[in-house]
Amino acid sequence: VGKKQRPFTIAVVTSGGDCPGLNACVRAVVRSAIADGAEVIGIPHGYRGLMAGETQPLETRSVGGIIHLGGTILRTARYNEFKDPAVIKQAAERLDSLDVDGLIVVGGDGSLRGAWELSQLARTPVVGVPKTIDNDVGGTDYAIGFDTAVNTAVRAVDQIRDTAVSHERVFAVEVMGRERGYLAAAVGLASGAEVVVVPEAPLSVDEIAQALRRGAVKGKNSSIIVVAEGCPGGARRLAEELARETGYEVRVAVLGYIQRGGPPSATDRIMGSQFGAEAVAALREEARSQMIGWREGRFVRRELTAAWQEAPPFPDDWLKLAHRLAGIWPAPA
Ligand code: F6P
Repeated sequence: VGKKQRPFTIAVVTSGGDCPGLNACVRAVVRSAIADGAEVIGIPHGYRGLMAGETQPLETRSVGGIIHLGGTILRTARYNEFKDPAVIKQAAERLDSLDVDGLIVVGGDGSLRGAWELSQLARTPVVGVPKTIDNDVGGTDYAIGFDTAVNTAVRAVDQIRDTAVSHERVFAVEVMGRERGYLAAAVGLASGAEVVVVPEAPLSVDEIAQALRRGAVKGKNSSIIVVAEGCPGGARRLAEELARETGYEVRVAVLGYIQRGGPPSATDRIMGSQFGAEAVAALREEARSQMIGWREGRFVRRELTAAWQEAPPFPDDWLKLAHRLAGIWPAPA
């Protein structure tokens, strides 16, 4: 008489900065696993929680009423110690001691790199899901959280534009994006910004000043400049330099963490749900060291290394169109 086999068990962790849509993803992991006869445990507080041996049981009801909530019910952490090979080795031992059949890591490029390193040392298979409002993970065109952040920032720019128009002012609005300008390009095009400044395609103060002057000649009395956080000095430095160069009054608005929170958009709920279910399916099909990606309108499985080794997506065409439609930029040569 054999002993009763325990069900297939999956652990799930959210790691790095929070973003809207994480809860939809966790809910989908839990409920699709349970629908499949599997069980799920949560690891709270990101990799820090994994190191500390923290776990929490997750059942159908534990993920009730969360699909519309921002943040993550599992909590999360930035755990810089996870770059230390000795720490990763210990985390791999902790993971194996949980005696689960797979770990799902929902994280940005740094966390997915950690997931790959973990997967090299642990017996337990690891599968990654991309999330970040910056949308700068390699191996995927989409990361959970991006759509909500774009919508939040666009609403904010719409509100700032009222003041810009009424006072005939120039505003430099800084959006998040630690290293990259995907979010800025999207916000720029969607809000009708006159200027979009991103690390991928830097503009000189002189070029921006000339564009604003061309606008003034055409009767444009106010302008919005969207600046990605990842540009050196951000919106503040640009505003100072521009004011010096043009004499215009340039006001600054740094949108900050409002872009990371709030109820997820329908897109992030849908994408979060699908990413979660795809990750469970991947583990059940014995995937190891893989990430779920979204490429050309379909879900794909890629090596986790793609997350940081491949160039992240960037919407060059959105950036160019934003500037073309602003009507103050010379046609590209
Ligand atoms: O990666 C998402 C992000 O919001 C970046 O845009 C920003 O630079 C960073 O996280 C802020 O990180 P923290 O939450 O550690 O302040």
